[in-house]
Amino acid sequence: MTTILAIDQGTSGTKAIVVDAEDGTVAIAEETIRPTYLPGGGVEQNPHELLDSVLTAGRRAVSMAGRPIDGVALANQGETVLAWDEATGTPLSPAIVWQDSRAGSICAELAEHREAIAQRTGLVLDPYFSAPKMAWLRRNLTRDGVVTTTDTWLVHHLTGEFVTDASTASRSLIFDLDGAAWDGRLADLFSLGDERLPRIVGSDEVVGTTRAFGQEMPVAGLIVDQQAALVAEACLEQGTAKCTYGTGAFLLANTGSDPVRSSAGLTTSVAWQAAGQTLYCVDGQVYTVASAVRWLQDLGLLQSATEIDALVAKDSDGVMCVPAFAGLAAPWWASEATASLTGITLATRREHLILAVLQGIAAQVTELTALVGRDLGRPLNRLRVDGGLTNSAALMQAQADIAQLPVDIYPNAHATPLGAAALARCALDPAISLEEAVGDWQPATVYEPRWSEDRAQEFRTTWAQAAEACATKGDHS
Ligand code: G3P
Repeated sequence: MTTILAIDQGTSGTKAIVVDAEDGTVAIAEETIRPTYLPGGGVEQNPHELLDSVLTAGRRAVSMAGRPIDGVALANQGETVLAWDEATGTPLSPAIVWQDSRAGSICAELAEHREAIAQRTGLVLDPYFSAPKMAWLRRNLTRDGVVTTTDTWLVHHLTGEFVTDASTASRSLIFDLDGAAWDGRLADLFSLGDERLPRIVGSDEVVGTTRAFGQEMPVAGLIVDQQAALVAEACLEQGTAKCTYGTGAFLLANTGSDPVRSSAGLTTSVAWQAAGQTLYCVDGQVYTVASAVRWLQDLGLLQSATEIDALVAKDSDGVMCVPAFAGLAAPWWASEATASLTGITLATRREHLILAVLQGIAAQVTELTALVGRDLGRPLNRLRVDGGLTNSAALMQAQADIAQLPVDIYPNAHATPLGAAALARCALDPAISLEEAVGDWQPATVYEPRWSEDRAQEFRTTWAQAAEACATKGDHS
């Protein structure tokens, strides 16, 4: 029976859990990270803070668990990049966070290749993905060292290896989706042809060993955080889908071994590579969810996210929000779009603003559920969800009302590290299947729609117009 230290290195913090196959989660440690928001769309993290958070949270969890650990798994942010010295591991740049839109200029220069890139990679030419960020970093910050996603750098610190997993590589725009390998021609297009790129590994591979957490342990279970939550929510079959409400919200649907290209404006990535198979998913993104709540806090409208349900209005009194605080992703792909709050009068109170932000998040996720349904060839009939903001009954009820779908809340606050842990368990015990490692789950709560279909439709139509206005205002092409 295996005990795994599973680390979720996310945008707003690092969480480490120790999970035992028999006893469940036996230790949890968390470290908060505050990204820096810069004028012009920059979002950066201090790499030292990232590494320290991984080591500190990991060591605390191991010491709390007080038992031997069989392996360590690592989920990563997906598209966050940095430059670093391969000989010493020293960072040579800040971490450029996935929300950073400054690589928009690089994408604009490559606009004529948009279709070819989409065909090859399954992604949209947008600064969200890692290759435009790597190219921007090379052009504007440093030409020294290697430039990689954060997982490669963290794993190098832990093991000395130079690797990334297929799901993370597939978020780059220089990855051949069908062949599941780096694409040299695309790397050339982004002026990254001379870069040393990490070896791509499966998520159920042992990539090395580390003593960084006080005991010698193999490192396995490398995967993007969103894909890890897809695993944890047992979306292992083609057609199953989940949405995680973290810094952003990400709706992913498993498309099986078919790297189907979205016809609905979503993107296609590797879900995970395991047991010698590459599985794929389509995904849609809301860039600012906890970030939008954080913005309410920064304005002094909330002390903490736990206050939302106590303060939120029953009705938004006509206030509507498009939470495009860091641009709009699928299906608009308008990285320069900005958020809007409309319908404000002298009678508007903070509780209306809070509800408007929650409804805006729920409306944007609803658009994604419809698009996923189009790609899957049938509408979703329920929505499985996880992540910190699923604790807000107001947000989850708004989600059920606007999407007109029952919303099933995943019963554990740690879906992402649990997904990574399941993959690590498969790496350490090849006799066990991913289905066995994940197990079944029952929703902790189910939110049923309370709005009428007409009311939901009317809200969606008005919200979609507001979103379109944000997308077009941000379109300077
Ligand atoms: O694509 C970015 C996403 O995977 C980051 O997730 O949990 O840090 O918001 P999170």
